Amino acid sequence: MRAADVLALLLMRAVPALAATDAIDAALTAAPGDPARGRQIVADRALSACLLCHTGPFPAPHLQGNIGPPLDGVGSRLSQGQIRLRVIDARKLNPDTVMPPYYVTEGLNRTGRAWQGRPILSAQQIEDVVAFLSTLRAP
Ligand code: HEC
Repeated sequence: MRAADVLALLLMRAVPALAATDAIDAALTAAPGDPARGRQIVADRALSACLLCHTGPFPAPHLQGNIGPPLDGVGSRLSQGQIRLRVIDARKLNPDTVMPPYYVTEGLNRTGRAWQGRPILSAQQIEDVVAFLSTLRAP
């Protein structure tokens, strides 16, 4: 990932969220999420950059960040709805979070040009990621 992309991700967190709720229980798509596709999305450093800040069950652990909590076991800690809310817009829980909102297009300041007017991930990609993270159970 280029430094400019990292910067763009970090800058996408500017506006405090209004609503405070802990989960989005309704799926964004009619088609269920695909955990295998979700795994690819999370592992894709150019597309999602999740591993910039999170560790998980992926190759090259030394290239995984620890700014956020490990994703291992997240499916035991959080419900699908709780995971969905956090990936869609983590600012709803923590207005100061460094985690970029992956499915909002409005209220963003200084968004990288490639992301202007569109979410980082599509609705289907969000559902795929949620499906994958739900499979990460604590031993
Ligand atoms: C720039 C750093 C960063 C990136 C990139 C990032 N996150 Fe996060 N994430 C965090 C931080 C920090 C937290 C801790 C809560 C907070 O501060 O909002 C977090 C929290 C979470 C949580 C809640 C975990 C728990 O145990 O409570 C999930 C799930 C999550 N992130 C998934 C993802 C996924 C999936 C991606 C990629 C699509 C991603 N994150 C990208 C920084 C990041």
